Amino acid sequence: MKGPHLASLKCPECGKRLKFNREILPTESIETGQIVCERGHSWSIIDGIPSLVYPTINEKDAKWIKEYDDMAEAYDELVKQYDDWLEIDMMKERERFTTFLPIEGPSRIIDVSIGTAANFVALHSNFKNQMGRFNLHGMDLSTGMLKVAKRKIVDLGIDVSLTHGNVFNIPYQSSFFDIVLHTGGVNTFSDIHGALSEMLRIVRAGGEVIVIDEGLSPRMRDSDKGKEIIKANSLFAARPPLEFLPEKARNVEVSYVMNDTFYQMVFSK
Ligand SMILES: C[S@@+](CC[C@H](N)C(=O)[O-])C[C@H]1O[C@@H](n2cnc3c(N)ncnc32)[C@H](O)[C@@H]1O
Ligand SMILES: [Zn+2]
Repeated sequence: MKGPHLASLKCPECGKRLKFNREILPTESIETGQIVCERGHSWSIIDGIPSLVYPTINEKDAKWIKEYDDMAEAYDELVKQYDDWLEIDMMKERERFTTFLPIEGPSRIIDVSIGTAANFVALHSNFKNQMGRFNLHGMDLSTGMLKVAKRKIVDLGIDVSLTHGNVFNIPYQSSFFDIVLHTGGVNTFSDIHGALSEMLRIVRAGGEVIVIDEGLSPRMRDSDKGKEIIKANSLFAARPPLEFLPEKARNVEVSYVMNDTFYQMVFSK
């Protein structure tokens, strides 16, 4: 973890800025250590990833996180099963979010619930020579998923600041990002309104929040194939969670992607 990453974060307990508990060189990368806020709340850096989870997670979320920790190493292979079943190419579909990027110039992007970093792998395959213009961040509550994400990011040679944090209290400064991306978790979150409100808080005015998750389009839902999909996996019965959008969300747009099997909800503030 380096200094610029720290400057984007806030103390998850009191919201104040954070600093390292010792002097560091501008280019130094901290693998293990402590960061503190001015009120004295102290947080660990483990394997180069700051752990900023507060308050303690509830039972329902803990159960999901245990599942993600356990499946982290197999996750990419498991997700590939969607390709044949839904007749999609998930990695190609992930490149879709790059249509929200400005043609040129710098962009601060966070993948909230980054999982195994598949969206940034897709970004890299589209923008190989231009990765320098992106300031990339990834946050997840599962340390197992973060470990896999870190390995893939290092192998690919891309620079992504990873943070261990909870979507219900995202430990980032308000209005910091141009783009907030979230794929694949919101349907099972215990507080969907809280999660969407936090995503909106960290995007800048005029920036965009993009939320994609399982949920068939009305057309697919009524088809035989759609009924079959929902029978096999009830997550696909989910609808875009419009009722949980924060009041301040503007320019809300819903569409369907991945062969009509996932909803895409885009909004801004
Ligand atoms: C289905 S996976 C999707 C991962 C990745 N975004 C993707 O598209 O492949 C859901 C992710 O949400 C994360 N997650 C679940 N609950 C969370 C929470 N409360 N805060 C942050 N991340 C959470 C899980 O650890 C997991 O990585
Ligand atoms: Zn604090």
